[in-house]
Amino acid sequence: MANMIHSCLWHFALVSIFLVTMCSLSDCYDPLDPNGNFTVTFDTYQWENDGYLAKVTIQNYYQYRHVDKPGWKLGWIWGQNEVIWSMNGALATKQGNCSSFKSDIPYSCVKDPEILDLMPDSSPENKSVDCCRGGLLDAWAINPSQSFSSFQIKVGNLQQNSFGRAPLNLTLMAPGLGYTCGPLLDVDPTVSLDIGGRRQVQVFRTWKTTCTYSSFIAAKTPVCCVSLSTFYNPTITSCPLCSCGCRLADKTTETCISRSSFPSMTNDPQSDPDLVKCTDHMCPVRVHWHVMSNYVDYWRVKLTITNYNYHKNFSDWNVLVQHPGFRQNTTIYSFNSIMLPAGFRDEVALFWGIPYVNQELISTEKDQVGSVSTEMLLKKDMDSFTFSNGWAFPRRIYFSGETCQMPLPDAFPMLPNGVVSNFAKPSLCLFLLLTFLTSQALLGPWL
Ligand SMILES: *[C@@H]1O[C@H](CO)[C@@H](O)[C@H](O)[C@H]1NC(C)=O
Ligand SMILES: *[C@@H]1O[C@H](CO)[C@@H](O)[C@H](O)[C@H]1NC(C)=O
Ligand SMILES: *[C@@H]1O[C@H](CO)[C@@H](O)[C@H](O)[C@H]1NC(C)=O
Ligand SMILES: *[C@@H]1O[C@H](CO)[C@@H](O)[C@H](O)[C@H]1NC(C)=O
Ligand SMILES: *[C@@H]1O[C@H](CO)[C@@H](O)[C@H](O)[C@H]1NC(C)=O
Ligand SMILES: *[C@@H]1O[C@H](CO)[C@@H](O)[C@H](O)[C@H]1NC(C)=O
Repeated sequence: MANMIHSCLWHFALVSIFLVTMCSLSDCYDPLDPNGNFTVTFDTYQWENDGYLAKVTIQNYYQYRHVDKPGWKLGWIWGQNEVIWSMNGALATKQGNCSSFKSDIPYSCVKDPEILDLMPDSSPENKSVDCCRGGLLDAWAINPSQSFSSFQIKVGNLQQNSFGRAPLNLTLMAPGLGYTCGPLLDVDPTVSLDIGGRRQVQVFRTWKTTCTYSSFIAAKTPVCCVSLSTFYNPTITSCPLCSCGCRLADKTTETCISRSSFPSMTNDPQSDPDLVKCTDHMCPVRVHWHVMSNYVDYWRVKLTITNYNYHKNFSDWNVLVQHPGFRQNTTIYSFNSIMLPAGFRDEVALFWGIPYVNQELISTEKDQVGSVSTEMLLKKDMDSFTFSNGWAFPRRIYFSGETCQMPLPDAFPMLPNGVVSNFAKPSLCLFLLLTFLTSQALLGPWL
């Protein structure tokens, strides 16, 4: 009876996973970060003769998705004839046609301004609070204090007796495509604390929206793949062939140019940031999971992340691993880590580098690949632990928010014959196959 219930629960879990993954096909949300979003807020805090002053804030609520160089870019379309009189903490890329202004010349007159963050070395009079990090935003789970950015704008040229309307068609590049923003809506004015927290003050009005990421819209080729190995089998399961593209160059040459680089090819291929080392998977990044050893109460894993880019360092990398073993006490030796609350049966661990140790995942040189690694000690839960059926391998891995291509379950390193686990779980195979198939479906168009 207990077995039957158990089996039913398993089927239920499988169906839920399938449904959620189906959902992510049409991009409802990321099942491992269902509440992730960028929230953009316009807080109007002062009226002017012909307009208002507002503080605009971009908050990254994604647990493990950060905004890398060259930084975020925010855009919108003015509904009326608004102009920006001045700006602090960011810049508008175009001034536009301000020829109808005679004495005071606005800062920007374009109908669809594009806003970029300032660099940290900007002059103090152009800065504002919480600005000027070159558009970089950290992931919420890793560094919430650097996960948002603000700037101030003075908006004018409104019609008589108008308080202005929210800008339309907000767009966010962070830094690439893939983000969709809803309309800016009137919400309760933002409240903040004053006088040491004893008094609440509020802005005049607040417009707010959220922007969410969809890999489907980003239409990126995969950037990462997973390889596996164990102490009990000499076979190394490498990344699936052509995970991120196929070799274009001659097999004998040292380098090939990745597919994504073609539009941005510069005259000097040596400085092309998309140049990756020639491999059978052509992925710029590989995550390797090696099951090192087996103790009575613990098992040990080595996690290695390799950067095959020739001209690109990752300074804010993070890796997300879904594996049921993380439900138990885990010791991570050389990375920072936290466990994220996730659904289903498996826990999700987020890893990132330790400053001055391995925070920088450097690029590959001629004969040396850039890599970072850690060992970890995972406690055995005697009710579920097994080496059979690929249990010891991760279910899903993301590199800086992007899904990594997993090998097919039937290519996983097998236990040698005669070693039989007491805790074999046949349905696990089905689960792994399903996870693989759905991820294949997701990535299908690029393979
Ligand atoms: C955006 O993220 C925040 C924090 O996780 C959450 O409270 C909010 O509900 C999210 N908004 C939407 C529209 O998903
Ligand atoms: C600039 O705007 C003015 C008034 O709105 C218009 O008359 C003029 O043609 C515009 N100039 C250009 C180059 O678009
Ligand atoms: C800084 O502000 C000054 C005066 O407001 C302006 O002339 C200058 O272009 C600004 N610099 C930047 C980088 O925005
Ligand atoms: C703004 O978005 C709406 C709906 O998405 C669209 O119909 C409209 O054409 C857009 N406006 C501009 C100026 O792009
Ligand atoms: C990457 O980092 C290494 C070591 O810090 C440095 O020598 C190299 O110039 C960097 N490469 C790029 C493209 O920034
Ligand atoms: C994890 O290990 C620490 C110390 O090694 C111990 O204090 C803690 O109770 C353990 N937690 C669990 C859930 O076993």
